[in-house]
Amino acid sequence: MKTYLVTGGAGFIGSNFIAFLLDTYKDIKIINLDKLTYAGNLENLINYDGFENYKFIKGDINDSVLLNEIFENNEIDYVVNFAAESHVDRSIENPSIFVETNVLGTLNLLNTAKKFWQKAEDIYIEGKKFIQISTDEVYGSLSNEGYFTEETPLDPHSPYSASKASADLLVQSFFDTYKFPVNITRCSNNYGPFQFPEKLIPLVIHQCIEKKQIPIYGDGLNVRDWLFVEDHCSAVDLVIKNGQLGEVYNIGGHNEKTNIGLVNKIIGYLNEEVDENINKELITFVKDRKGHDRRYAIDPTKIEKELQWKPKYHFETGIIKTIDWYLDNSEWLNNILDDEYKKYYQKNYGKLN
Ligand code: NAD
Ligand code: DAU
Repeated sequence: MKTYLVTGGAGFIGSNFIAFLLDTYKDIKIINLDKLTYAGNLENLINYDGFENYKFIKGDINDSVLLNEIFENNEIDYVVNFAAESHVDRSIENPSIFVETNVLGTLNLLNTAKKFWQKAEDIYIEGKKFIQISTDEVYGSLSNEGYFTEETPLDPHSPYSASKASADLLVQSFFDTYKFPVNITRCSNNYGPFQFPEKLIPLVIHQCIEKKQIPIYGDGLNVRDWLFVEDHCSAVDLVIKNGQLGEVYNIGGHNEKTNIGLVNKIIGYLNEEVDENINKELITFVKDRKGHDRRYAIDPTKIEKELQWKPKYHFETGIIKTIDWYLDNSEWLNNILDDEYKKYYQKNYGKLN
């Protein structure tokens, strides 16, 4: 029976990952440690309430006393660190919290896991592993050609990606210096159920449902490489089980889209299925994001070859599944739009009709 400490498990990807694990394995135990910031929502895991092998703890990865208590009371085998401040636009407005959570919080987790897992100098209890959930954004920006491989130098541009790159370097340094057992995963843009509506896809769906304008930054030709969240979860699961210690694994499904192309697709579907008043007239080009990365594209050869990972979802299926989920879960959407988000929304999008 393996015990996972999943941090940030009430957020978008973390909650999908916990659901994936609980649906896939019966003989595991999961502790979900989450601070429940604006982005964390326990409703995401309501179907698993009462499961004996699942426990939620509200807390901060920066809280050493709490972490020590968790490690003392549980035989943790894997730490899977999803906990983060994750939104680029917020990092541009307030970088400090990104360093506190993404950098210092990761270091705190590393220190605690090392303390409890260490048997002797550079020797750890067999089978333990720390998995850092990182992002393709640490590689910076591509022009029209080429892909990010695991050898691409780190070149982050936003305070968010700089904080994630810093955390990656700390995780790598624990392997290089102490032989501490780690893997780092770097995934491309995720989409799917339970994503907070500040991110492009759920924001666009929400604006369409409300028949409000859709803000597109700059010329709309920035490219993102989209992966359905469940495919990210299956990749992380394989890295935990079979990833070679100390290695980085890129995760992506070769699915590049311009922002404007993606937005038109969502509008097209909602126009046909929901209301013909949802149309391209809702699109509004607004001031570009500062330091806006032009193109992300992952080369997933390593994880495909070494770990035989393959995404299950084609974009065409994944995006429809996602839009339908938001249409069917308007209550979730309304509940998550708390007062803080309403203020954020008003400040950023309040001028849009
Ligand atoms: P999210 O913002 O939806 O969720 C983050 C979760 O972390 C929330 O539940 C929040 O409450 C929790 N949290 C924040 N600060 C915390 C702290 N100090 N202690 C404990 N919990 C804390 O983010 P997401 O989109 O699910 O991303 C999860 C991870 O995956 C992040 O590390 C992100 O960098 C990475 N990632 C995201 C994407 C993407 O497209 N969303 C792609 C690649 C990698
Ligand atoms: O690549 C992985 C990263 O993807 C993750 O590490 C981040 O946590 C996650 O937030 C995401 O970052 P992006 O900046 O790519 O995602 P976002 O949804 O914020 O924006 C996607 C693209 O859409 C980007 O080019 C900016 C643009 N955009 C975004 C918003 C919110 C708009 O044009 N208008 C908008 O209102």
